Amino acid sequence: MSAAEATASMLELPEHVRRNRIAWDKWAADYADPGAALWAQDAPTWGIWGVPESQLRMLPSDLAGKDAIELGCGTAYVSAWLARRGARIVGIDNSEAQLATARTLQRKHGLEFPLLHGNAEAVPYPDASFDFAISEYGACLWADPHRWIPEAARLLRPGGRLVFLVNSFLLTLCVSDIEGVAASTALQRPAFGLHRIEWNGGGEVEFHPSHGEWIALLRRSGFEIEELVEAYPSADAATRYPFVTLQWARSWPSEEVWKARKRG
Ligand SMILES: C[S@@+](CC[C@H](N)C(=O)[O-])C[C@H]1O[C@@H](n2cnc3c(N)ncnc32)[C@H](O)[C@@H]1O
Repeated sequence: MSAAEATASMLELPEHVRRNRIAWDKWAADYADPGAALWAQDAPTWGIWGVPESQLRMLPSDLAGKDAIELGCGTAYVSAWLARRGARIVGIDNSEAQLATARTLQRKHGLEFPLLHGNAEAVPYPDASFDFAISEYGACLWADPHRWIPEAARLLRPGGRLVFLVNSFLLTLCVSDIEGVAASTALQRPAFGLHRIEWNGGGEVEFHPSHGEWIALLRRSGFEIEELVEAYPSADAATRYPFVTLQWARSWPSEEVWKARKRG
């Protein structure tokens, strides 16, 4: 693609997708080593505390031969875990730099699956292409829920499952505006009207619907909600992220997993 074509295609993206692409292309280098470590793990662990799969049960037990997509795959370690369980996985991500790491790790591990550079709000696959869709701090945090949830519903077959892990809404209310300062026990912002957040006027855009908004949107998009699981990190868990302490995360949920099934 020429430079002029690249600029034109960038301008076609929604504003938040364009801004998040610039941010993630810049941050990708910081995610290469953590991504490599997670690729090397056979047993999945999730989120910023590495909560084990046995607690969160993000992955269906019967993935072999199933069509699956990871929405906002980053370095694609989640996709790798699915591929090793026999799923026909496709990863899509908005950052070419993140996908470059993913491709390097594919070669290192000898595990090939399609990686698409694109916006999870508009995936170039036909309706009903997948049995399972997953996102861990990917599209579920950085894409507009009013676009990516209906898109996930379109992509899934009747009975297909959507599972995603994000910051809990409670943590979003308590987290500090000051970078590097951990969440307190006091509410820092109103819950009503939150939805979209631009921390510290940085370039990037996050989306944090309330529980009521998630439920209404999932149901309106054709999903039945099966479970909302609140992650509880172990006493020796650690994170490289400064925005929440282990003491906080063992007192209140800092991360939550939504599990939904497309109505058949
Ligand atoms: C935190 S990473 C998620 C991957 C991995 N699970 C992780 O936690 O490192 C966030 C990823 O979401 C991607 N992303 C952000 N907005 C997206 C969008 N609209 N469509 C697809 N991917 C998106 C970013 O490019 C980034 O690679």
